[in-house]
Amino acid sequence: MLSNKRNFINLSDIGKEELNKILKRARQLKKVRFKNSSLKKSLASVNLAMIFEKPSTRTRVSFEIAIKELGGQAIILDESTTHLARGETVADTARVLDRYCQIFMIRTTNHHKLLEYQKYANAPIINGLSNLSHPCQVMADILAFEENRGKIQKKKITWMGDLNNVLFSWIEASNIFGFDLYIAHPRQVFINKELKKISSGKKNIIFTQNIEKAIHNSNCIITDTWFSMGSKKNAVSARYFKKYQVNENSIKGANPKVAFMHCLPAKRGQEVTKEVIDNKNISIVWDEAENRLHVQKAILEWCLKKI
Ligand code: CP
Ligand code: NVA
Repeated sequence: MLSNKRNFINLSDIGKEELNKILKRARQLKKVRFKNSSLKKSLASVNLAMIFEKPSTRTRVSFEIAIKELGGQAIILDESTTHLARGETVADTARVLDRYCQIFMIRTTNHHKLLEYQKYANAPIINGLSNLSHPCQVMADILAFEENRGKIQKKKITWMGDLNNVLFSWIEASNIFGFDLYIAHPRQVFINKELKKISSGKKNIIFTQNIEKAIHNSNCIITDTWFSMGSKKNAVSARYFKKYQVNENSIKGANPKVAFMHCLPAKRGQEVTKEVIDNKNISIVWDEAENRLHVQKAILEWCLKKI
């Protein structure tokens, strides 16, 4: 087992310097693609295994194009069509795939499985969303914010709604990149022990039910679906979330140049209205989605020590 391999599982495992290196490379890669200039095939002959236990549009397509444009190829496995679904262990699957593939991306309902893949494979492991976190998404989001509104450091960022996997990575990012994160959520949605652990004692992270306070002079408002894939929350909770909808009225007190972000897929009329998500002056959701491609190229290169 290689002990110095580079996994991309949670942002806080990696550290600011390396994350900035990835962001810098993503900006370069974006420029090259935009100019249509030819790209050095830094990952020629690399096979990327992607295992999906949950649906995906963005993650799947952006990783597949990313590895192709860098000269490698993707092998996409829907977990339900593999022997994992019939009881073959993660440990055995990891050791087998390791003989064919140089890097893995896993989307899982159980974060511990990522750690198991990490343990049994020599290949680096990338977290393509788990029940706990979504680090690739938040890297793409930071890039999108900075392209549109300048440095995120010291800015006021507001999260509205559910306390979920995407938020976990935003909290990690706030600790690393130094911005204030106001988290407005229904009191009926509890702060779980993982979120408590990474936010405890951090003055820049504020959980609140006071929406006005969370939005006041905010530079960026983020939300996500009220019900994550595989979440056990029932329909009763929708009633509690309603107040936390991002709409033209709720964002009135924000900074005049506020940005709106959402990792997508979005449910217009639930967590956000069409007047906000489709407002080109505010919403940068398409840049976030595009940046998945550029950031993930840089993450693939970083994991394979090309940067
Ligand atoms: N935001 C995101 O991860 O989208 P997909 O579920 O479509 O991959
Ligand atoms: N929180 C959402 C993100 C989807 C990309 C979910 O886990 O379903």
